[in-house]
Amino acid sequence: MFECQRNEIQQEVNTIVRKYGRTRNYLLPILQELNRKFSYINNYMIEAVSNALDISPAEVHGVVTFYSFLNETPKGKYIIRLCKTISCDMAGKDRIVRVLEKELGISFGETTKDGLFSLEYTNCIGMCSEGPAMLVNEEVYSKLCPEKVVDILEFYKNGARKRA
Ligand code: FES
Repeated sequence: MFECQRNEIQQEVNTIVRKYGRTRNYLLPILQELNRKFSYINNYMIEAVSNALDISPAEVHGVVTFYSFLNETPKGKYIIRLCKTISCDMAGKDRIVRVLEKELGISFGETTKDGLFSLEYTNCIGMCSEGPAMLVNEEVYSKLCPEKVVDILEFYKNGARKRA
């Protein structure tokens, strides 16, 4: 890792820890904010957070690996998380898998070459009666059908941040 990247990470960790306070109680929101900023959390970030909060790197690493919304590797700008749990599965999740993979030219677990989209599965996101459902970053989309998915992808490809 380059020195300038380390400096940027250290500065960001300092800023976030100052905002929340140097207490272990805020470990998760601190990591969430780092994840939002860099799209993933690497070993240097884990070390910086552990030093700042005076807790072990193993504890920080344990939290990073426990929560699926915290990434250990770089992800796309937009992370699509399709629910794979039974209600969405029965509501036609597989059709949505096919259209997402076809439209983006990648498989689940991969990121597009332009770094715009990552495809992942997630467990239930609380929209069971409106499946199939997925998240794009923190935005929820339900009652998905292939046409709706194409529209949603177009919306993000065009750089819009919030769906009306
Ligand atoms: S089963 Fe998919 S949102 Fe609950």
